[in-house]
Order: sequence, then C-alpha cells, then structure tokens
Amino acid sequence: MCGIVGYVGPRPAQEVLVHGLRRLEYRGYDSAGLAVAHNGSVAISKAEGKLDRLLARLEEAPLPGRAGIGHTRWATHGAPSDRNAHPHSDNTGDFVVVHNGIVENFRALRSELEGAGVGFRSETDTEVLAHLLALEYEGDLKEAVRRAVRRASGAYALVAMTSREPGRIVAARMISPLVVGLGEGETFLASDMPAVLDYTREFLIIEDGEIAEVTRDGARIETLEGRPVERRSFTAEWDNESVQKAGFAHFMLKEIHEQPEVIARTLGGRIHGGKALADLSWAEGDPADVQKIWITACGTAYHAGLVGRTMFERLAAVPTEVAYAHELRYSNPLIGDRSLTLAVSQSGETADTLAAAKLARRRGSRLLALTNVVGSSLAREADEVLYTWAGPEISVASTKAYLAMLVGECLLALRLGRSRGVTGPDQERKLVEELHSLSDKAARVLADQDPFRLLAGELAGASSVYYIGRGLDYASAMEGALKLKEISYIHAEAMPAGELKHGTLALVDEGTPVVAVATQQNLYGKLLLSLQEVKARGAMVIAVAYEGDEEIDLVADRVLRVPRTADLLSPILAAVPLQLLAYHTARLLGRDIDQPRNLAKSVTVE
Ligand code: M6R
Repeated sequence: MCGIVGYVGPRPAQEVLVHGLRRLEYRGYDSAGLAVAHNGSVAISKAEGKLDRLLARLEEAPLPGRAGIGHTRWATHGAPSDRNAHPHSDNTGDFVVVHNGIVENFRALRSELEGAGVGFRSETDTEVLAHLLALEYEGDLKEAVRRAVRRASGAYALVAMTSREPGRIVAARMISPLVVGLGEGETFLASDMPAVLDYTREFLIIEDGEIAEVTRDGARIETLEGRPVERRSFTAEWDNESVQKAGFAHFMLKEIHEQPEVIARTLGGRIHGGKALADLSWAEGDPADVQKIWITACGTAYHAGLVGRTMFERLAAVPTEVAYAHELRYSNPLIGDRSLTLAVSQSGETADTLAAAKLARRRGSRLLALTNVVGSSLAREADEVLYTWAGPEISVASTKAYLAMLVGECLLALRLGRSRGVTGPDQERKLVEELHSLSDKAARVLADQDPFRLLAGELAGASSVYYIGRGLDYASAMEGALKLKEISYIHAEAMPAGELKHGTLALVDEGTPVVAVATQQNLYGKLLLSLQEVKARGAMVIAVAYEGDEEIDLVADRVLRVPRTADLLSPILAAVPLQLLAYHTARLLGRDIDQPRNLAKSVTVE
C-alpha cells in the first residue's frame, strides 16, 4: 500500500525521505519517488520498482535541499511505471503532490481540466490534484489545498509543496492516515509512524477532514472549514528496534515465534480473580441486553471473526453474524440499535472495515473495535476499543495479530457471557486457566521446525492444496489456506469437510494434498469419514491433530501435533502449524515471503 514521508528541517531532505521510505517498504509497493525544494524550484526523481532503482538515479543526480516529500506507490490507477510513480506535478512544475488512497471523481475532474487545456502526463488519479492546486493557487498553498480537496471526493491523504513557498508542506487527510512527527527544529510527516521513528517519537495525529501546515518549527492543524485545532502530541511506544527481524530470516517467521509472548500480552492484566475483562468499562453501560452481534472484517481478521462467532454464541448465547466488511457495507444489513458490532482489524485502517463499522454505527449499533494499532482510524471511530497488543506486525501475512484477535474475542465472549448469566464462574475459571496455558503450548509447537521443513518439500510441487475441517476446524482451515496461497502462490482452497462430496471431491486424485484440521471432538468421527473418502481417492493427507490422538494415524500420511486444549480454543494452537507449513513451503519456493506479489500490508483503498 502507498506510503508517504515528508520532511522540513536542517538535514538533507533526500536522506531523511529515503530512510523513511525504507521503513515503509514492508507495506508493499511497486514504485517510489521524491521531490525536494531547492533554490526556488522543486526537483523530482522517481522510478518504477524497488527503492534501489530510485537510489541508483539519486546517485547519478542527487536532490539537494532541506524540505521534501517522498512516496512509495502501490498501483491503483495506471500500471506501475516511472511516469505513474509519485510525486506528480502540474505543468509548470511549481506544484508537487504525493497522495495515498483514491480520488473517486478523478475522471470527471480530469476531463474538465483537459477541456481547459491542461496536459496530463500520467494515468493516475493523483495528477489531477497537482493541476487543481495550480489552478486554485492565489498565493497561499494551504488555501489552494483546501479548495482542491473540496473538489476531490474519496478517501485519501494528500501532501503538497510548491516552489513558491519553500520550507512549507501542506497535508490534508480525507480518511487515509497521516501523522506529524515533531523534532527539534525539524518536522516530519508520514502515513505511518515507523517511517520517522528513527528521528522522533513525538507525534500529532491529523484527523479526517483536517489540514496541517508543516514547517521546521512544527505543525499548525485546522479543519477544512478553517477552524484552528489544538492537538496534543503523544509519545509513541514502538521504536524501530522492535520492528527489526531480530535474527530471523523473515519478519513472518519472527512474528510466528513471538506468538507465545503475544498470547500472554493480550491476556496481560485483563483477568482478575478468574474473571475476564472485569475492569473493562463500557462507554454506555454493559451491553448485556444486546440482541445480536455483528462481526465485520476482511481476510485473516474475518477468519478470526468466524472463530469469534462460535465463542459469542457458546459463551454468551448471543446470535452472531460474521460478514466480510466489503459485502456488509453494500448489503443494507438489518443492524439495529440493540446490536453490538465488533470490527476486527490488525491495522485499524482497512478501508472496507472502517466503512462497514461506520455504517453499523449510523444504524444505531454500538461499535467495538478489536485492533492492534493504537490511535488507528478504527480505534478512534469506535465506542470501545480492545487492543490486541500484538506489537507491530510487519509481514504482509498476518500471524501473531490473528492469535491475539482470537484471545481478545474469547475475553470479550467470557465477559459478555458473565454479564448475561450464561457462562458460570466455574466454566469461566477453567477457560481462563486454559487461556493462560496457551503460551507454553504454542511454544511447544514452535520448538521443532523439522516436520514443517520436510512437509514443505512435499507441498512445494503441488498445484492445488485442499484444506478441510468441521466447525471451528473449518475456520482454521480457511486461515491455513489463506496463509499458503498468499505467500507460496500455490492454489489453496478451504471447505467444510462435509462439503467435499458436493463437488470438490472430483478434483481429488492420486497425491492431491489435503490438509485436515482435526481438533473438534464433537465432529471428530465425521471428519474421519471425510478423510477416508479422500484417502480412497489417493489423497496425501496431512492432519493437524492433538497430541495423543492415535486414531488419526490410521488415515493421515503425516500428522502435525498440537497440545490438547479446550476445543473452543483449539484454533489458537491449530493456526501455528498451519502458518509454519505455509512459511516453509514459500521459503523452499524462494518466494518474497514478507512482501508477497500484488499484496499490501494495509489495504486502505476499497
Ligand atoms: O489490517 P486488517 O486486519 O484489517 O487486514 C485485513 C486483511 O487485509 C489481512 O488480514 C490480510 O488478509 C492478510 N494479508 C492475511 O494474511
């Protein structure tokens, strides 16, 4: 996803901007560029591909100057190319912009501008913003930005400079995130804090519909309407050390290994006297009388929602629906004021999840956010927030955030179940004890990587892998399949085991890999029947099963063991071998594991 960095201060801007863009590489991108103001003009350098290509150009023709903006682009309008890379400028070259997100009415704006004789050099929606600025400029960049933003609809962040006002950068946030980093005699701008964490830990958040005027002395924020905003700065807890690989080959592997600690962190301080979230204060009183829970999310967070549904239904007896956010937001859902909407998102910036959450709120629902990022857009939108405390997740493939979401959902379900008189103290105490044991159990799964390496050799040549399970094991199967496909590029499909006979069994042949998750005791016998069916067609069965389960050896060719736990919590452990299987397969295939092709860490466009 696109990344933005800006700088005004005493240092060479090129250096700061390149460093910041390096820090944002994990988000995924396909081109990069810089614009730096110097001697009355703004010079641009940009290149398709990874940052090294841009660096090669900068080596030949450096950009001197102490104020500038930089960008990594993830293509939406127009293919990845030098000319579509940001920054973009107007025809005089005086106005330069970088932009994240999408200008929804850019076609109409572009034809209007072309009609007025403006020539375009790229296929991007961004370029209209540069031309609009030039047209709207009457001696004050901030006013020009304000007028341009009023004309451009959509969810985006815009950062602009002009050679006519050196030392000044103006940024506007229309949903897509932007922060200001404050230093001594220098000021930074970024779409994400890690971009500038090596320079400062003091931040101001620019909120939706606000404009910030940035100079080396700091930032002045006001609303689009021109009302000054007093914003208190805060100190970020994360430093860049915690976002390094710590000796692991990939961020994904590091994050998988952090999971035992993450489980403990998510639980930390949230259980008192055997009671989950006893001191969570709800903004409007306990929602014990809630009639329905809606869970909305995308990708891995959606899979967490599938597990959450069973937790809420079993522990709190609240009917729960899980909906992909991109579907929910356009489905005219019957969300009412006696409902609770749980929006689940690692980043808290996923555009669809945010939109679905806002819709739920408009319909009168209480909004609870389960997210990993403090101060994220989702967190700020919600009535209540439960942070997962998984720490920065850099790998595009989500791992530790998923486990933390499951733990968070279980805490919430226990809390609701207690308020509603559904889960008794004994049941709660037992589950809480079991939750506490999961850190050690997850660590046991991580202790020996050899089985995963060996199995990777068997999966790497497959063209399709099928993942099956029943009940909660089906949710785990979905997450396992997503992990494999997104980082290894092997086609992987998950289905409830009972669905095989209704079509997919036709594809199972000699050697077809079938990964079965077999932890749900009430459905275990049924799952074995499905495994016998695929076995009879020659499938190579890999099972994820509990330690001590001997029956599984009769049908599975390979078994990946997880320690026994309560069936309701088994997705927390089952995820770990599935992540490792995907990781080692992708590694054997030499894939770009932390930044898989075509994907981005944070999907801030629809
Ligand atoms: O930040 P979010 O949790 O809202 O992100 C949702 C999905 O984009 C994300 O889980 C995605 O599916 C991951 N790449 C999966 O590993």
